[in-house]
Amino acid sequence: MTNQINSAFASLNDRALVHHSSYISGQFHPGRTGHFAVHNPADGSLLALVAEAGSTETEQAIAAAAAAFSAWSGATAAQRSALLMRWYQLMQQHQHDLARILTLEQGKPLTEAMGEINYGASFVSWFAEEAKRMNGDIIPAAATDQQILVLKQAIGVVAAITPWNFPNAMILRKAAAALAAGCTFVVKPSELTPLSALALAELATRAGIPAGVFNVVTGTDAKAIGQVLTKDSRVAKFSFTGSTPVGKTLLAQCASTVKKVSMELGGNAPFIVFDDADLASAVQGLLAAKFRNAGQTCVCVNRVFVQRPVYDAFLAQLIQATAPLKLANGLETGCQIGPLINQTAVDKIARLLDQALDQGAELLLGGAIDADLGPLFFQPTIITEVTPAMRISQTEIFGPVLCISLFDTEQEVIELANNTPTGLASYFYSRDIGRIFRVAKALHYGMIGINEASISNAAAPFGGVKESGLGREGSSYGLDDFTELKYLCLGGLG
Ligand code: SIN
Repeated sequence: MTNQINSAFASLNDRALVHHSSYISGQFHPGRTGHFAVHNPADGSLLALVAEAGSTETEQAIAAAAAAFSAWSGATAAQRSALLMRWYQLMQQHQHDLARILTLEQGKPLTEAMGEINYGASFVSWFAEEAKRMNGDIIPAAATDQQILVLKQAIGVVAAITPWNFPNAMILRKAAAALAAGCTFVVKPSELTPLSALALAELATRAGIPAGVFNVVTGTDAKAIGQVLTKDSRVAKFSFTGSTPVGKTLLAQCASTVKKVSMELGGNAPFIVFDDADLASAVQGLLAAKFRNAGQTCVCVNRVFVQRPVYDAFLAQLIQATAPLKLANGLETGCQIGPLINQTAVDKIARLLDQALDQGAELLLGGAIDADLGPLFFQPTIITEVTPAMRISQTEIFGPVLCISLFDTEQEVIELANNTPTGLASYFYSRDIGRIFRVAKALHYGMIGINEASISNAAAPFGGVKESGLGREGSSYGLDDFTELKYLCLGGLG
C-alpha cells in the first residue's frame, strides 16, 4: 500500500504538497478516528489514506477561524492582498504538481487540470486586487445636519463545502473572496478529492497566511460535518457548491442561525443552435461546454436544441467532431476525456441512457463503457429524438452524453429551454443581433453564453437563478457576498 501511495506521487517536484490530514490553525492534525481511502478513478488504485475528521475537528476549525478573525479583518486591505498574492505566486510556481495531484484524484485530463489550477489561482490574484476596492458609500442625508455613511465589513467566519468536480477552483473561488474581504475560512472538501485542498493548505502556510485564517476539514461523515458548519453560531456565512437536493438541506439547516448563504447548485443547461448560427463555431462551443471534465460540470450542456433548417448539417459536423475525441487516463498525452468519478456516476448515466432509448431516443454514437480502458470510462455519446418528457432531459446528467432535439420557432425553444426548475448556465448561437437580445432577455438563467461556451472567469459573476442557487461567486459581486453593509447615521453636523 505504501509503495502504491509513494509511486503515484513519485514524479512530483515537491512531494511535501501531499498531506493526509485536516489543516486546522496552521497545523496538519493527525486523525483520531481512523482513515479513509482516496482512489484514482482512472485505475482504481489507492492514492492515499487520509485522516478522518468529524464534528470535533470541525468545531476546532471553527474555533481557530473565530480566533483569527479579529486580526485578519483588522489588517489593512494591502496586507491581506500581499499575502493572497504570495499564495497565488506559490500556486503558479507549483502548478504542474498541483495539476498532477488533481488529475490523480479526480481523473480529468492533465491539460484540463492545468487549466483548473490557473482558473483557481486567477481568483486569488483577482480578489487580492479587489480587496483594496471594498469601497463603502456616502449617501445624501434626509436632514441637513446629518451624514449617511455605508461601510462594507467582513461578515465573519465563513464555512464552505466544496465538490469533487473542481477540487481546486471551487475552494479558491470562495476562499479568495472571503479572505480578501477579511473573513476567515473553514472548508470541507469532498472526501473523494481532499488532496488538492490539502496542497492548497500547505501553500497557505508557506505564503505566511496566519494560522486559523484558512482551515481544511477532511472526512467522510459529510452529514455530521455539515451539521456543525451550518448550525454553529460562530459561522456567519455558509457557502456550498453541489447538488440542488443537498443544497436545500443545508440551506434549511442554516436557517436555525440565520446565516448568510451562497448556494451554487445544479443546472440543466440548454444549448440552442439557431438557423443563422455559425455552425462550425457552435460545434466547437458544444464540444467545449459538454465534454469539459467528461461532462461533470454544473455548467455543462445538458440539452441541445437545433433549429430544423440546420439540423442535418449541424448533426453531421457534430458527429464528425465528437467521434475522434480521445478517452483515456488523464495522465496520458492527448487525453481529451477522462474517467467518471465513480461507479455511482456510471450507473446513473447508463440508467438515464437506457430509459431514453426505451422511450424512443436514437443512439448515434458511443453509449457504453470502454471496457478496455476500465469500468469508469464512458464513451462520448450522442442521442437524438430526445423529448422533454424523458428523465435524461430533466436530470443533470453529469456525464459525456449529448442529447439532441429539433425545434422550429424561437418562441418554442425559449419555452423548452426554460422548462426546468433550475437556471444556472445556458448557451445559444445566432448571428442576428435582434434575436440575440430577445433570447438573452427571455432565458431564465443566471449566465448566458452567446456564441461563446467558455463563460467562467474570475471577473464574471458566476451563479444561478431558481433552484440553481443564491448569490454570486467571482467579480466584485462575489466579494460583496462576504461582506455586510453597516449604515452609520452621523447627526449633529449643523
Ligand atoms: C462547477 O461545475 O461547479 C463550476 C464550473 C465552473 O466554474 O466553470
